Amino acid sequence: MSNSSNKLDLDGLRVLVTAGAAGIGLAIATEFKNLGATVFVTDISADAVRAAQASGFEAAVSDVSDEKQVRSLATQVKDSLGGLDVLVNNAGIAGPTGPIETIDSQGWTSTFDVNVHGQFFCIKHLLTLLRESDRASIINLSSAAGRLGMAGRSPYSASKWAVIGLTKTLAIELGAEGIRVNAICPGAVNGPRIQSVIEAKATMLQRPVDEVSNLYHAQSSLNELVEASDIANMAVFLASPMALRINGQAMAVDGNTEKLY
Ligand SMILES: NC(=O)c1ccc[n+]([C@@H]2O[C@H](COP(=O)([O-])OP(=O)(O)OC[C@H]3O[C@@H](n4cnc5c(N)ncnc54)[C@H](O)[C@@H]3O)[C@@H](O)[C@H]2O)c1
Repeated sequence: MSNSSNKLDLDGLRVLVTAGAAGIGLAIATEFKNLGATVFVTDISADAVRAAQASGFEAAVSDVSDEKQVRSLATQVKDSLGGLDVLVNNAGIAGPTGPIETIDSQGWTSTFDVNVHGQFFCIKHLLTLLRESDRASIINLSSAAGRLGMAGRSPYSASKWAVIGLTKTLAIELGAEGIRVNAICPGAVNGPRIQSVIEAKATMLQRPVDEVSNLYHAQSSLNELVEASDIANMAVFLASPMALRINGQAMAVDGNTEKLY
């Protein structure tokens, strides 16, 4: 691991951000790039990947829930970056909203396929590259729903708790090799995804969208949504020399959220 005097200098750091062509992933990828890292982004959306390439990122289409595609992604990352220092497991879907008895097995399974199995596949197939790095770390996106219950979002919440179990276990497994593994638990992040989550919740509760939106703001003690840039700040910090002894942690970036609606 490096001991640079500029502790947020990420010059030359090789970073992979999954689902990095839009939303929180794009904010993370952009912040790493601004701090001097070389960033490869992957996304299931070909349009989003084309846009990322146009913005100067190395990028490729890949569905993290498909192990074969992730295996091939590992080869593309090796060819493109020559190695890997930081894996940001950002890809995650909201999954279905509703009381448990209305959740079908397809909705349950697809949520775990992306949110949990996707992180497993990426870690498993990129570990060889990370092992060759002397400043390796893995950052897994969990959620406030990965440390609190969330009525009506059982597949999502259960999958994000699984991410914490994966993170804490691998922090122990890989710590002795100098590979740090941490999670970020964002609160509700301003953007199109949270808007559709709020609309789905309003339908489930049969309440006006504005009322549910206000509840989502009030979840945070700061009474506001989190910005994608707040998550990006935490990601670069965790990957930087400032966080050399931070391992196995679930870092909340949620304005202090004590209850989820
Ligand atoms: N948005 C929030 O309020 C919020 C809150 C807490 C945690 N999170 C977590 O943060 C992460 C990013 O969330 P977001 O809101 O930016 O997501 P998003 O829904 O905006 O999606 C971002 C990108 O993910 C891509 N994607 C979807 N499935 C994929 C797959 N199987 N393989 C590769 N790419 C795929 C999409 O094409 C899209 O470009 C997720 O893990 C999410 O669970 C989000």
